[in-house]
Amino acid sequence: MTKIPPLLATQVIVLSLLSSFSIISVQGKNPGVVRTKLLGLKKEEKLSHFRLYWHDIVSGPNPSSVAVVKPVTNSSTGFGFISMIDDPLTEGPEMSSKLLGRAQGFYGSASQKEAGLLMAMNFAFIQGKYNGSTITVLGRSQVFNKVREMPVIGGSGLFRFARGYVEARTHYFNLTTGDAIVEYNVYVLHY
Ligand SMILES: *[C@@H]1O[C@H](CO)[C@@H](O)[C@H](O)[C@H]1NC(C)=O
Ligand SMILES: *[C@@H]1O[C@H](CO)[C@@H](O)[C@H](O)[C@H]1NC(C)=O
Ligand SMILES: *[C@@H]1O[C@H](CO)[C@@H](O)[C@H](O)[C@H]1NC(C)=O
Repeated sequence: MTKIPPLLATQVIVLSLLSSFSIISVQGKNPGVVRTKLLGLKKEEKLSHFRLYWHDIVSGPNPSSVAVVKPVTNSSTGFGFISMIDDPLTEGPEMSSKLLGRAQGFYGSASQKEAGLLMAMNFAFIQGKYNGSTITVLGRSQVFNKVREMPVIGGSGLFRFARGYVEARTHYFNLTTGDAIVEYNVYVLHY
C-alpha cells in the first residue's frame, strides 16, 4: 500500500467530513433510517409469566413432530437428527384443554456425548389479546435433566423487544411411542 503523506491524509479526512456533512444537509437523514429516538418509552417494561403445555406427538397418523433429517452417525445421542415441529401449546396438560397457540420450529441433536438438543421455535399465540403475537425460544435442552432453561431471544406483536427465559419440565414421556408433554414456564420481559 502506498503511504499517504500526513498533510494529504488530513486533507482527505477534512474533505470527507465536509462531504458527509453536505450529504446530511441535503438528505436530512441517513438512508434507510426511518427514525431514531431516545428510549424514554412511555410504557413500562413488564414481566409476564405463562405456563403452557407443549405436546410433541411423534406417533400416530397426525404427528406434530416429524424427523426431517436422520442421524448420519449411529451415536447413542442421535447426533445430527433434526425434527420439524408444529406442536400444540395448551393451558393444561391434557390435549383437550384450551389451545393457547403452537410451537413452530425445529429441534435437533447437537451433542455427540449426551442427550443435548438445540431447540429453535416460535410460540405463536392465538388467544385473546395475544392472538397473533409470538415469542422466540432458542436454546439448549438436555432432555433428561429435570429442568431445562432456554433463552427467550425476541418476540413480535405484544412481545416486541421480548427477552427472558423458559423452564421446561417433562410432564409425560411415553418410551414406546416417543410422545412427550412438557410443561413450559415462560418468563418474559416486554412492553
Ligand atoms: C456404527 O457402529 C458400529 C459398531 O459400533 C461401527 O462398526 C460402525 O462403523 C458405525 N457406523 C457408522 C456409520 O458410524
Ligand atoms: C385470531 O386472529 C385471527 C386472524 O386475525 C382470527 O381469524 C381468529 O378468529 C382470532 N382468534 C381468536 C381466538 O380471537
Ligand atoms: C404409551 O403409548 C402406548 C401406545 O399408545 C400405550 O399403549 C401405553 O399405555 C402408553 N404408555 C404410557 C405410560 O402412557
